Amino acid sequence: MSTATLDTRVESFTQAPHQLFIGGRWVDAASGETFITPNPATGEALASIAAGGPEDIDRAVRAARAAFDEGPWGRMTPSERGRVVWKIGDLILEHLEELAQLESLDNGKPLTVARAADVPLAADLFHYMAGWATKLDGSSLSLSVPYAPGVQFHAYTLREPIGVVGQIIPWNFPLLMAAWKLGPALATGNCVILKPAEQTPLSALLLAQLIAEAGVPDGVVNVVTGFGEDAGAPLAAHDMVDKVAFTGSTEVGKLIVQAAIGNLKKVSLELGGKSPNVVFADADPDASVAGAANAIFFNHGQCCVAGSRLFVEESRFDEVVEGVAEIAKSIKVGDGFAEDTQMGPLVSDEQLRRVTGFLDSGRSDGAEVVTGGGQIGDHGYFVEPTVITRTRPEMRIVREEIFGPVVVAEPFQSLDDIAALANDSSYGLGAGVWTRDISKAHAMAKRLRAGTVWINCYNIFDAALPFGGYKQSGWGREMGHEALEAYTEVKAVCAQL
Ligand code: NAI
Ligand code: MG
Repeated sequence: MSTATLDTRVESFTQAPHQLFIGGRWVDAASGETFITPNPATGEALASIAAGGPEDIDRAVRAARAAFDEGPWGRMTPSERGRVVWKIGDLILEHLEELAQLESLDNGKPLTVARAADVPLAADLFHYMAGWATKLDGSSLSLSVPYAPGVQFHAYTLREPIGVVGQIIPWNFPLLMAAWKLGPALATGNCVILKPAEQTPLSALLLAQLIAEAGVPDGVVNVVTGFGEDAGAPLAAHDMVDKVAFTGSTEVGKLIVQAAIGNLKKVSLELGGKSPNVVFADADPDASVAGAANAIFFNHGQCCVAGSRLFVEESRFDEVVEGVAEIAKSIKVGDGFAEDTQMGPLVSDEQLRRVTGFLDSGRSDGAEVVTGGGQIGDHGYFVEPTVITRTRPEMRIVREEIFGPVVVAEPFQSLDDIAALANDSSYGLGAGVWTRDISKAHAMAKRLRAGTVWINCYNIFDAALPFGGYKQSGWGREMGHEALEAYTEVKAVCAQL
């Protein structure tokens, strides 16, 4: 087994103690406290990180406020701002190997995946959003005011940045989630306080260096590492913050909404999912089986859109479940730095316990484990790719987000049955449909209550494709031009001529 060589820059980056990035300077947490981010493949310490708290959040918010109200950022032309955002994308590509290694070490994902997906997608997001900086148009409007007969008006709209934005992100795609948040916020001219997940702060700290190098003025992007309750909660509650954008659990999403009540800041949320993946009998046999496996096992199932409820038309149920189970058994689980690793560890001990807890609950509820079902070894946070069947709709493993490599599979009879079954969830983030019948494919796409529907594919992400959830999967959309709406206010201007 060959193992990737640790980049010397990555080695020195992880060995250095890490500070907070506030107002363009690296500073210790006001409390002086630090915490350790472990390597999930070994459980051993990877790096020392500043533990930001309420005082640090307040400093960062004031820095962002000053940068927004008085700094050079607001005076830059849209073209200048776009070029800076583009440059961030270029620098991410220049530092692709370092970022990919940090991501693999901190999160556990295979280095090959971080190189091919996480880092290039993050760069592309900045490149895509850079182009919007010069295209934030309003419109001119024709008025017919009934109580002002004969009076002429000139009316138009302006699209303006919301202001100071708090962004709280999770650990499953640390760099990419930072990009999804920062790209549109910067392209539209906002100032940001980014709070990375405590499990995976490293790539955001390197990104902060690249952002400064790209020419983003001091205070426009601040990065405060720390825990959810100590750093995330005061950011969501801060009165000088105009908007908070959050990706994470539905449980914390609801806390964010409550915290935002004080000053009624704008809120956008990208939350959990329990996404249905529907295989009809006429689907391409190989592609649908491989697609069903990829839908759940990609990123070890730690995807908000994971295709965690697999529905297969009755006549092909046994064959598809067997095929997905065969793939599950063949997946090479190991350290993300080993070149042949296809699935790494879960991100943390907490996540390992959560996922194995779900596996236990499925077994005690009487579900059948076709393959997998437990932890691998006692070193690091590895869990077996798992296929479960013979479930009942009320079981926790069917209703709740597991966020691990665990799929529940059930047969269905007809299109009407499956639409109802697929939509029987409090979530509505993603969905997959596998069929060679184009009418059926689009009819299903229409009936599914989900923010993204993939037809004969799954886990396809692109900066141009809007992403977000129906129901309790969230508020608002990221990526695409829809993301601009989440970071701008519309001002109507009306002049009497
Ligand atoms: P979480 O929702 O607790 O953490 C996400 C982010 O929110 C982190 O940056 C965390 O520090 C912050 N946070 C936590 N509590 C906060 C609070 N009270 N106020 C403000 N910020 C806070 O998610 P966690 O505990 O890491 O994972 C739990 C479950 O959440 C997972 O098993 C999974 O089901 C779901 N999840 C969903 C994600 C998604 O992409 N939609 C991503 C990560 C987790
Ligand atoms: Mg949590």
